[in-house]
Amino acid sequence: MSELVERAELAAQRAYAPYSNYLVGAVVRTTDGTEFVGTNVENAAYPLSQCAEKTAIAAAASAGYRPGDIKVVAISASPCGGCRQWLHEWRVPQVEYRRADGTIGTASAADLLPDTWDLPG
Ligand code: THU
Repeated sequence: MSELVERAELAAQRAYAPYSNYLVGAVVRTTDGTEFVGTNVENAAYPLSQCAEKTAIAAAASAGYRPGDIKVVAISASPCGGCRQWLHEWRVPQVEYRRADGTIGTASAADLLPDTWDLPG
């Protein structure tokens, strides 16, 4: 049971997903305890759609938080491949997510994206 995943699921109710009807929510908790919520935000030009965890991380970034400042990201779904790269960039030590089978997964960004790509130099 993860209280934060349940809060992400509540946030998902506010998702803007008229094309897929797949509602996703996310909660970011920073190391100082501040929280940011995000949902997926879709667009008629489908590839421009935005994932929930990216929305939440972008809110934290816009408030001045930086990689290393995020303690937990909770998501109402297992994070997609692109979002795993975001979780890696932000060095998130704890990601909690609802799996399709209803169980809750907990893993670090490093667990979710092994053998990562990073900008050379
Ligand atoms: N989606 C997320 O918000 N996060 C993920 O990690 C997986 C996918 C959204 C994107 C799109 O709006 C919808 O789910 C269907 O792919």
